[in-house]
Amino acid sequence: TQTATQTDSTRAPALPDAATVTEVRHWTDRLFSFKVERPRSLRFRSGEFVMIGLLGDNGKPLLRAYSIASPSWADELEFYSIKVQDGPLTSRLQHIQPGDQIILRPKPVGTLVHDALLPGKRIWFFATGTGIAPFASLIRDPQTYEDYEQVYLTHTCRDVAELDYGRELVESLKDDPLIGEMVGDKLTYYPTTTREESPRMGRVTTLIENGTLFSELGIADFGPATDRAMVCGSLAFNMDMKAILEGAGLREGANSEPAEYVVEKAFVG
Ligand code: A2P
Repeated sequence: TQTATQTDSTRAPALPDAATVTEVRHWTDRLFSFKVERPRSLRFRSGEFVMIGLLGDNGKPLLRAYSIASPSWADELEFYSIKVQDGPLTSRLQHIQPGDQIILRPKPVGTLVHDALLPGKRIWFFATGTGIAPFASLIRDPQTYEDYEQVYLTHTCRDVAELDYGRELVESLKDDPLIGEMVGDKLTYYPTTTREESPRMGRVTTLIENGTLFSELGIADFGPATDRAMVCGSLAFNMDMKAILEGAGLREGANSEPAEYVVEKAFVG
């Protein structure tokens, strides 16, 4: 059957909106990232998401929203995903290999974009888990460094290994021929773990509330005159961060009405 399937698939009609996988990396037993060829006509703003997926057993597309993790100038589109063993999509998506095809609906949308924020001095990217994906794009966007004096990326994960994707990316930026010079020392990376010992432990929300984040970074507080924020993580995280930012006087923005912060839920399963 195996051989028959493989032979058939070479003759099978192409998927609608097919994109060919070029690279897959497994970071932990819960996390993987992959790249696909970028459709020639696809333009997107850093921070946006697209619908991607596979054909379901019923022959219908099984699609989920995925933030584009690659920068808008890259030739490939990168995605960062959780693996849910009984998840309808990710139980299968985690097995993709270079050369395979996925479905990619070429209509990027989303609220985690520079256009939804008013000008400010500092920008904060607050992420948990796979919520770092849109920021993986935004920290490679020249506009991030043109628009702000300081850029902060916080990432809270359960374990140290779950930070690897983000840490490796941040470390690679200083040597990046395209963006390295712009990044300079403007970008501050603030990783935390909650379930495994690491140099900085605790939820970032706790570290904000008890003042640790401010004292470690030498900042007085968040304020609407200086700070802009983008939040991407679980529903509970997003709600807690919203309360913190609203409490500091920041208002939620949108594409149609820019303000001081924006929120989006990370893909969950
Ligand atoms: P915790 O271990 O305390 O639940 P997950 O892998 O479940 O998506 O979680 C990713 C990270 O987000 C975990 O470190 C988790 O911490 C943290 N987290 C979950 N909910 C919140 C929240 N409401 N505020 C801050 N961090 C959270």
